[in-house]
Amino acid sequence: MKVVAIGGSPRLHGNTNYLIDQALGELASRGIETEKIVLNEYKVGPCQAHENCASFPECQQKDDGQWILEKFSQADGVILASPVYFGTISAQMKAFMDRSFFLFRHDMGLSAKCAGLIAIAGRRGADQTVEELKKLVRRADAELLTLSGNSGAPDVDPKTQTELIEESRKMGRQMAEILAAGSS
Ligand SMILES: Cc1cc2nc3c(=O)[nH]c(=O)nc-3n(C[C@H](O)[C@H](O)[C@H](O)COP(=O)(O)O)c2cc1C
Repeated sequence: MKVVAIGGSPRLHGNTNYLIDQALGELASRGIETEKIVLNEYKVGPCQAHENCASFPECQQKDDGQWILEKFSQADGVILASPVYFGTISAQMKAFMDRSFFLFRHDMGLSAKCAGLIAIAGRRGADQTVEELKKLVRRADAELLTLSGNSGAPDVDPKTQTELIEESRKMGRQMAEILAAGSS
């Protein structure tokens, strides 16, 4: 049983990454294997829209997108988390979303039975950003759990965000329950 989290924030010690860690911590403490992939730490270029994408056995773009997509599609549960930039997902997450087109052009479904979607704004736009994240898992037969919140000030210490921390931990616990129920 494995949960893969895809993080769209470049700030390793920011809110989005901290909240991913909280959710994954709950999962790990229940014996579930976890992996966090921070997109900004890798090269995931924007889709180049090869017309005959479906005819290629591999994405023609030789970067980290391919293996990250494989892990994403094979995981039993996924977490997608993005900061809100101009009212929507970050550019890193959008590039990943566009690259997931390869999966769909090859009829490669997602194995995930549950998906946790996290969007963190400064002040507004988190709800609509969660709606954007839903597009990435819309073909999965997955139970969706969402967390949309505001960090407030840009330099806020994520460790002081008690409500968001509790919500993300709750997401992790719920995902563990869904995965446990599915495997029994
Ligand atoms: C390029 C950019 C655009 C942003 N646009 C918005 C926005 O539209 N609405 C908002 O409330 N906050 C916006 N913010 C603030 C971030 O969403 C906020 O600081 C969030 O907590 C960042 O997440 P992080 O701590 O994980 O990096 C923006 C920040 C940046 C850097």
